[in-house]
Amino acid sequence: MNRSAKPFLDQDAPGSTIGRRPGGPVDLPVWRELCAHRDELAATSLTELFAADPRRGTVMSAEYDGLVLDYSKNTVTEHTLDLLVRLATERGLRAGIDAMIAGDHINTTEDRAVLHTALRAPVAGALSPAGAQVSPAVHEVLDRMSDFADRVRAGRWCGATGRPIRTVVNIGIGGSDLGPAMAYRALSELADAGIEARFVSNIDGHDITRTLGDLDPETTLFVVSSKTFTTVETLTNARTARQWLLDRLDDPDAVAKHFVAVSTNAEQVAAFGIDPANMFEFWDWVGGRYSLWSAIGLSLMIAVGPGQFRELLAGAHGMDSHFRSAPFEQNLPVLLGLLGIWHRNFRGAQAYAVLPYDQRLSRLPAYLQQLDMESNGKSVDRDGDRVAVDTAPIIWGEPGTNGQHAFFQMLHQGTTPVPCDFIGVLEPAHDLREHHDLLMANLFAQTRALAFGAADDPGDRPPHRWFPGNRSTNTILLPRLTARTLGRLVALYEHKVFVQGWIWGVNSFDQWGVELGKTLATRIHDELRSDRQPGFDSSTDALIMRYRNARESNTAARTSAAQLEER
Ligand code: F6P
Repeated sequence: MNRSAKPFLDQDAPGSTIGRRPGGPVDLPVWRELCAHRDELAATSLTELFAADPRRGTVMSAEYDGLVLDYSKNTVTEHTLDLLVRLATERGLRAGIDAMIAGDHINTTEDRAVLHTALRAPVAGALSPAGAQVSPAVHEVLDRMSDFADRVRAGRWCGATGRPIRTVVNIGIGGSDLGPAMAYRALSELADAGIEARFVSNIDGHDITRTLGDLDPETTLFVVSSKTFTTVETLTNARTARQWLLDRLDDPDAVAKHFVAVSTNAEQVAAFGIDPANMFEFWDWVGGRYSLWSAIGLSLMIAVGPGQFRELLAGAHGMDSHFRSAPFEQNLPVLLGLLGIWHRNFRGAQAYAVLPYDQRLSRLPAYLQQLDMESNGKSVDRDGDRVAVDTAPIIWGEPGTNGQHAFFQMLHQGTTPVPCDFIGVLEPAHDLREHHDLLMANLFAQTRALAFGAADDPGDRPPHRWFPGNRSTNTILLPRLTARTLGRLVALYEHKVFVQGWIWGVNSFDQWGVELGKTLATRIHDELRSDRQPGFDSSTDALIMRYRNARESNTAARTSAAQLEER
């Protein structure tokens, strides 16, 4: 089977070039060489590759400031890597990295620069003139955030009744939720001011109901986070939170003390009723899923303090510098991206698992899902032509060892290859040494079993106990999980996604694929409340009718229950 065949598409986008113009990655001779090399290597196992070179386990690794990527347990040779590096070079990756950092409008469909790297550069450390140009505004907001966070943390910013803030509730969704939620969970040991952060994202009323259930309005601060400030979920949750507050404090002026906003849209923030003085700004050159480093991180900063937040930025900035300057052969994001391309485009992997062996990183897979799949889940390239290669895989994962008792069966014996990243932390933040030894033993055991099958326990096995091995994994090790190493890790993945998107030729920074569902939801929302015949397809119409009937009887039941109670 030729795994470099065109990807499946139901229908070509109108205007896209059916049959493709030449100029994509598959048109490069190196792509064909990679296909031929894949076929040559098809019968070679990881066991054989390791036997052929006893140094493989140490040679096939790269390190940046203590963050180690061991990629030796991938079905690759030095020649594979040479070819992949050639692919990156011939696809102009170096120029692509420079264009992003220089602030070129590489987000072509929205005509925007992509400058999240400028959010984490120190005052005098901009990576480009464009970075230097935005730096004063970036640091002005960072300083305002720090000042605000310090006041909240020290009890100098109090609620309307004069009590200090004990809980900060971030209301946002997607990139305005996942970044701070993931990082807060990772770093909550550092939350040293007695302020808890909570995150509400879902339009499902259970989310906000549960979040607010045990909170004291007098000590609760809401951070309404939305780049556009038009996102229905966020605005609906924010209105519900405001009503919750007003119902309990009975003081319209309380909103000013309990609500701040993070947005690019000052007009909509004012229209919502939040004083623009209490708004923290960011800019259209920050993509939602790349916005953790902007004011979107405010709730995290309040919990862990401005010093730790700046450590996070410094960690990411270090990875930016490494990405920009390290040779591709030693460049962690480039290597991670190229290995992913090898599996996705040449070895038929449709999915990719991220398996943090650290409970603190439990939201990392969800965060990376948005980062990767919203960035590179595209079928049309930057010129509007249909892509000729498979793009983003399905990203999923759970922390180890939990995943081992759930879906690892499929990883070991299933019919679909799933390359994985195993992420481990050498030194835990607790004293339970036995736990940590067992955790790390499991991580190492899993990657060994996936690579070599039952090599440690040979002998006759019935087919259902057979482990084929030869399943590729990366192992990423951090010395400790700190704000700085977390920043490094997240920036590593951001740039990995960039590498892949650039090579595939897609715009990694737009997300038009989410628009249709939003528009339809608005139309269907209207239909749920009307008594017209809906007029969609027969399935959607029938589902709407079922919901309407249930809604009517629920409302009737609630009304009579309320009447009974009144009597
Ligand atoms: O619907 C997708 C999306 O636009 C994401 O890209 C974004 O992170 C999220 O919604 C939230 O958007 P906003 O920050 O504008 O509320």
